[in-house]
Amino acid sequence: MSMTGASHNAESFHDATGTDEEAVAHGASIKSVYVYEAPVRLWHWVNVLAITTLCVTGYFIGSPLPTMPGEASDHFLMGYIRFAHFSAAYIFAIGLLGRIYWAFVGNHHARELFTLPITQRAYWSEVLLMLKWYAFLVPRPGRYVGHNPIARFAMVFMFVLTSILMVCTGFALYGEGAQAGSWASTWFGWVIPLMGQSQDVHTWHHLGMWVIVIFVITHIYAAIREDIMGRQSLVSTMISGHRTFKD
Ligand code: HEM
Ligand code: HEM
Repeated sequence: MSMTGASHNAESFHDATGTDEEAVAHGASIKSVYVYEAPVRLWHWVNVLAITTLCVTGYFIGSPLPTMPGEASDHFLMGYIRFAHFSAAYIFAIGLLGRIYWAFVGNHHARELFTLPITQRAYWSEVLLMLKWYAFLVPRPGRYVGHNPIARFAMVFMFVLTSILMVCTGFALYGEGAQAGSWASTWFGWVIPLMGQSQDVHTWHHLGMWVIVIFVITHIYAAIREDIMGRQSLVSTMISGHRTFKD
C-alpha cells in the first residue's frame, strides 16, 4: 500500500462525475474516500467513553479521596468508583476483542491499527517527512488516506500494546478480588507471579494509565491540529467515515 497518494484504492473513491473507475481514468479530482466503517467509528467513540471513565476512576482507586464521615456503607463512595471502573473495564475489553475481530473482516484500513510496516524504507521516509512537518521544516505534509505514519507508530506502541497490558493486569487484579476459581483468576492469575507480586501488578497497571493519558493528549492535539493545518479531514472522518481532501 502506498503511504501517501490517494490513488491506491480506486473502488472506494467517490466522485460526482460518474463511476469511480471512470473518474480516476479521466483524471477527475478525488472528492472523498470511505475509510472508517461504522463498527470502527462506533468502537472509537465507545472506547473514548470507556477509557475516560477508566482513567478517572482508576486515578481515584490509586489515590483515594480523603475518608468520608460515617459508615462506609452509608455512602459507598469507593464502592461506586470501583463499580464504574469494572463496568467500563468490561466494555473496554470486549470492545478491544470486537475491534480485533473487525481487523480480520473489515476493510484494509481496519487492519492499520495492528500493523506497522517497519521493514519498509518508504515507511521511515514518511515518518521523517511527518516529523519535519511537525517541526515546521517543510511547507506541506503528505496526504494520507489512512492514519499518518507517526499516528500508526503511536497507535501500535502506545495504544494497542498498553491496552493489552491493561486488560491482562486489570483482570489479574480483578481475579484476586473475585478469588481463586473465578474465571478472571483462572485466565489471568498467571500475571501476578510473572510480575512478582500483587503490588507489582498494581504498579504496572498504574503506569499503563499514564502511557494511555499521554497517548490521548497527543492524539487529540494532533487530530485537531492536522484537521486545521493538514491536507485532509480528520475529526469528521471518524464521525462520517469519509476522508475529504483539501487540495
Ligand atoms: C480516550 C480518548 C481517545 C482514544 C483512546 C482514542 C484512540 C484512537 C484510536 C485507537 C484510533 C485508531 C482507530 C482505528 O484505526 O481503529 C483513533 C483514531 C482517531 N481518533 Fe481517537 N481516541 C480518543 C479520542 C479522540 C478524540 C476526542 C478525537 C477528536 C478530537 C479523536 C479523533 C480521532 C481521529 C480523527 C482518528 C482518525 C485518525 C486518522 O484518520 O488518521 N480521538 N483514536
Ligand atoms: C485503559 C484502561 C485502564 C486504566 C487507565 C486503568 C487504571 C487503573 C488505575 C490507575 C488503578 C489504580 C492502581 C493502583 O494504583 O493500585 C486501577 C486499579 C484497578 N483496575 Fe484498572 N485500569 C484500566 C483497565 C482495567 C481493566 C480492563 C480491568 C479489568 C477488570 C481493571 C481492573 C482494575 C482493578 C481490579 C484495580 C484494583 C482495584 C482495587 O485495588 O480496589 N482495570 N486501574
